Amino acid sequence: MHGLFVLVMCTVGASAFRLQQVKNTENCSDHTVFFKHYYELHGEPVVLKCPSPRYKHLDLSALTPNTTWHKNGSSTMISGRDEDSRIWAKGNALWFLPVRLEDSGVYICTKRNSSYCATVSIHLTVVEKTAAREIAYPQILFTFTSGKIVCPDLWDFTPNRTSLELKWYKDALPLEDDNERFIILKGSASLIMTSVLPTDAGYYTCKMSFLFEGVVYEITRTIQLETVEQEKRITPIIVYPAQKTTSAALGSKMTLPCKVFVGLSSHFQTDVEWLANDTSIDVVYKQSRVTEGERREIVENGENFIEVPLIFDSVEEVDFYTDFTCVAQNTYGYQVLPTRVKQEAVGLSWYIAMIPVALASVILGGICMHKCWKRRADKGYAIPKA
Ligand SMILES: *[C@@H]1O[C@H](CO)[C@@H](O)[C@H](O)[C@H]1NC(C)=O
Ligand SMILES: *[C@@H]1O[C@H](CO)[C@@H](O)[C@H](O)[C@H]1NC(C)=O
Ligand SMILES: *[C@@H]1O[C@H](CO)[C@@H](O)[C@H](O)[C@H]1NC(C)=O
Ligand SMILES: *[C@@H]1O[C@H](CO)[C@@H](O)[C@H](O)[C@H]1NC(C)=O
Ligand SMILES: *[C@@H]1O[C@H](CO)[C@@H](O)[C@H](O)[C@H]1NC(C)=O
Ligand SMILES: *[C@@H]1O[C@H](CO)[C@@H](O)[C@H](O)[C@H]1NC(C)=O
Repeated sequence: MHGLFVLVMCTVGASAFRLQQVKNTENCSDHTVFFKHYYELHGEPVVLKCPSPRYKHLDLSALTPNTTWHKNGSSTMISGRDEDSRIWAKGNALWFLPVRLEDSGVYICTKRNSSYCATVSIHLTVVEKTAAREIAYPQILFTFTSGKIVCPDLWDFTPNRTSLELKWYKDALPLEDDNERFIILKGSASLIMTSVLPTDAGYYTCKMSFLFEGVVYEITRTIQLETVEQEKRITPIIVYPAQKTTSAALGSKMTLPCKVFVGLSSHFQTDVEWLANDTSIDVVYKQSRVTEGERREIVENGENFIEVPLIFDSVEEVDFYTDFTCVAQNTYGYQVLPTRVKQEAVGLSWYIAMIPVALASVILGGICMHKCWKRRADKGYAIPKA
């Protein structure tokens, strides 16, 4: 009887010890706000991925097996999948099947190993299906040439790309297979246009069905297509940041990329730069707390993009009162995009909620240690006192 009691206490102690380690996420001074904001439709499947932002020499992807998730303001961790869970965590991913309006909020993923811990917060906004146009993905095509629209963010739901099958709609009307101006290929996420006309601008919708354990879900993406005259194809267009403000918690790390579409002109002709209060970043932030990151030249779907990140090592109050501007220019033209950082309070209540649990753990752990020690001493394993 006594032996069983000790065993139970030690088991409690062991799990309590794990809780203590959870409390150690207070050490997660490395808090990052992920720049991508997920906008999703009520009733559809959603997968959030915990990103591994690269900072300096750190590579967080090795920590993927130890990823945990919780919602901002909630003390409970989101568990793995059981029979009737609608939301579950699986490795690096957080699944919603399906997502609901009330799931909107900030989700925080924590990655750790024995010596290091980092958290990333991710914004999720769920809207009614009728508001799909408000969350449309922007895409740009040049007129009087061929081009393609891509149905985005599908690959979490199609492990087998060859079986991908989409239905396309323009302004809510289905695009028929026999329409000669459009080509829809099975196994491809693209809608190909043989020659883009100015009248092709508008809202496109692609739909895919997703089968999970006998239930069919629908995945809808809405694209707002803008058409640009050929003559302008050589001036840069800023496609990101798309929003006027980005929220960040005080003290957190943040990366704000400026993504510029340079179309057919080559990368090297275009300059992309961030300004703070209309002045160079390195002049305003002499201590390098905020810096301009490395320029990346990207080719996506055959189009050229340039991305220059603005990196905040730690967001401070003054940043909420500073005007940040991304400027893109080449010899043919330029575009300016102002943006602001606004304050967000993240997850403090979660840590506070963990304190009593951690204290209880210490006490239980102490009792356990005492019992185990006594038991060992009884058996004569204790180190003799000097
Ligand atoms: C923990 O992860 C960090 C970041 O990837 C790495 O630098 C460090 O070496 C890791 N520590 C251990 C003990 O694996
Ligand atoms: C995160 O949670 C805290 C506490 O519940 C709340 O004050 C804060 O507004 C939340 N942040 C966001 C962005 O929802
Ligand atoms: C996961 O976390 C535990 C405890 O913090 C640590 O001992 C282990 O090395 C971590 N695993 C990886 C793959 O980082
Ligand atoms: C947490 O931070 C304290 C003080 O910086 C340090 O002594 C301790 O080792 C850290 N714990 C972990 C698990 O990183
Ligand atoms: C992918 O799907 C196609 C068509 O449904 C099927 O013929 C093929 O065997 C699948 N491949 C894999 C690897 O599952
Ligand atoms: C930018 O200008 C605003 C308003 O003049 C000022 O409050 C803020 O401190 C400036 N930002 C920096 C980083 O100097």
